[in-house]
Amino acid sequence: MQRWERIDQAQVPDGDDRLELWRRGDEFSIRLQRGGELMNSRAFGSERALAAEGLRGLDAATTACVLIGGLGLGHTLAAALAGLGLRATVEVAELSAAVIAWNRGPLAHLAGAPLNDARVVVHNGDVGARIAATQGRWDAILLDVDNGPDGLSRAGNDALYDDAGLRRARQALRSGGRLAVWSAHPSPAFRRRFGAAGFAVREVVARARGGAGGARHRIWIGVRGA
Ligand SMILES: C[S@@+](CC[C@H](N)C(=O)[O-])C[C@H]1O[C@@H](n2cnc3c(N)ncnc32)[C@H](O)[C@@H]1O
Repeated sequence: MQRWERIDQAQVPDGDDRLELWRRGDEFSIRLQRGGELMNSRAFGSERALAAEGLRGLDAATTACVLIGGLGLGHTLAAALAGLGLRATVEVAELSAAVIAWNRGPLAHLAGAPLNDARVVVHNGDVGARIAATQGRWDAILLDVDNGPDGLSRAGNDALYDDAGLRRARQALRSGGRLAVWSAHPSPAFRRRFGAAGFAVREVVARARGGAGGARHRIWIGVRGA
């Protein structure tokens, strides 16, 4: 049995924990030193489903302008690129410079090196700030930055899921654009808040290991009304 080895670590931006990159053979894990595992390379079904469900039925898939927060192991980004046309653009906002560097280095192969795609722009910073700085711009915003609206590991991410955060996301979208939100847990309260913020919301259950099962994660897709 191979042993886990830590191959890098970095301070969490604006936090007091450390992000660690671990490897065991061909398996990778990103962990918070005090908060446990954030991502594992063996489970990415629901991360890919976030993009597939979030972009499903999008009129402008050939030329769409998509914002993803955050990068993680790159699976949501890779699945979004697979569903979009050659003239689409995808901006990824990722808080941690180390996560971006790992995706250009030891993790690049896991999702097929999506950062090398010419349609991708990487923004090292808070996706909330990026949303707040834009109006009527995005055809889709795909959010997977935490454990979900009810399971935060970073206090600042709360502001993405509250009433004001949902209003900011609505303003940042084009009419007919959609916000898709990943969560490790169900949240009836968030679903109600999402609908009340002017979105037509549907909920999807996505398995962590895709067809192979695993934990049941939630994805909410809200389409912005006119
Ligand atoms: C669970 S991972 C995303 C997994 C990703 N969907 C995938 O396909 O692998 C969460 C990522 O969001 C980043 N993050 C956390 N808060 C953020 C924020 N406010 N803005 C941008 N990125 C953030 C973390 O550093 C981490 O890389």
